Amino acid sequence: MNGWMGWLTALVTLVVAAGLMGACEKEPAQTAPIKLGLVLPYSAVYASLGEDITQGLELALAEVDNQAAGRPFEVLKQDSQVNPKVGLQVTNKFIQQDKVDFLIGPVASHVALAMRKAAHDSQTFLIIANAAADQLTRELCSPYIFRTSFSAWQPYYPMAEWMAKTENIRKVALLAPNYAAGKQAMAAFKEGFLPHGGEVTSEQYPALGESDFQPYLSKVIQGSPDAVFVFFSGADAVKFVKQWAQSGLNRTLPLYASGFLVEGSMLRAQGQDAIGIKNSLHWSDTLDNPVNRRFVAAYKARFGEKPSLFSMQGYDTGRLIIAALEATGGDTTDKARLQRALETVTIESPRGPFKLSKAHNPVQNIYVREVVNGPDGPENRIIALAAENLEDPGTGCPML
Ligand code: PHB
Repeated sequence: MNGWMGWLTALVTLVVAAGLMGACEKEPAQTAPIKLGLVLPYSAVYASLGEDITQGLELALAEVDNQAAGRPFEVLKQDSQVNPKVGLQVTNKFIQQDKVDFLIGPVASHVALAMRKAAHDSQTFLIIANAAADQLTRELCSPYIFRTSFSAWQPYYPMAEWMAKTENIRKVALLAPNYAAGKQAMAAFKEGFLPHGGEVTSEQYPALGESDFQPYLSKVIQGSPDAVFVFFSGADAVKFVKQWAQSGLNRTLPLYASGFLVEGSMLRAQGQDAIGIKNSLHWSDTLDNPVNRRFVAAYKARFGEKPSLFSMQGYDTGRLIIAALEATGGDTTDKARLQRALETVTIESPRGPFKLSKAHNPVQNIYVREVVNGPDGPENRIIALAAENLEDPGTGCPML
């Protein structure tokens, strides 16, 4: 090679190398695992809900071979114990030590309210897979907080209207656990019920994790209501429905509820005691659409049981994260880009129509369901649509 050719070769090599380096700088190949920090109850009153959300999420991840945009998922789990202090502790650990890309959870509203500031201030995405506290997608909404479940208002407001208008219920006794979700649930119920001439004969708040509901049931009867409306979930739901049947009230007084009362393993434990309970929710395993049929079959095949609402919310949480990561090519460093992706990607949810509002809360149908005997035991059959594409008002959220 003469000197001239040598110089040219060296120059071409340099240019190509520089080009490659430039390309690397622009598109840093992100291959590190995407860390998901699950803050869920694996003990206490809502333990079964935490298990169901985890299984639903696992199914969504398994469907994509546990990776998105070439990055594998790493799932870290911590038990929130349905305790706000513990929830905040494990959230801080996930943010500071593990440096998770997404926090997932929690189940309970008071735990979510305790975690909110840590997630927001550290700009860590929190995908709420159940907790309902209205503020989280109203005045305390955040660019980093998304909800795949529901706001406390959503299942109650339209159900109360439906009960007044369609079932002609005028006098109702209310019961719910004594914490944020219980209080907000009953407030939303009254908002829908009172304008239709409804009257509340008693309003009682047993402790979360209550074991004896009999004193509360005695007070219910004193007001001579037309019906009783309750919110209980997890272990509380099983105990309440059993004690309701033991008291004999199931033969004389109609019981209405949000559908958490009679979901999944709770319904399996209640058995025949749950028959006839009319309830509201944004999904049922009997909902007849192709996405839901596929989801229910895949879940049954993997876990040997039917999914619950909580499994479905865990599944959609996984699907939302996967879709957003695919949209950003797996880039988790550009928070604004990832936020936009979470806001704009579409996922086909087993619940039917699903999109996120500007406040990051699902816009979704609310179904009225009734527990009836199906081919393999009690199930929730859909009997009416309480609200179509219902959007939480999002009052006070600066992102609206
Ligand atoms: C809540 O605390 O927000 C909560 C818990 C259990 C449910 C629904 C809402 O089933």
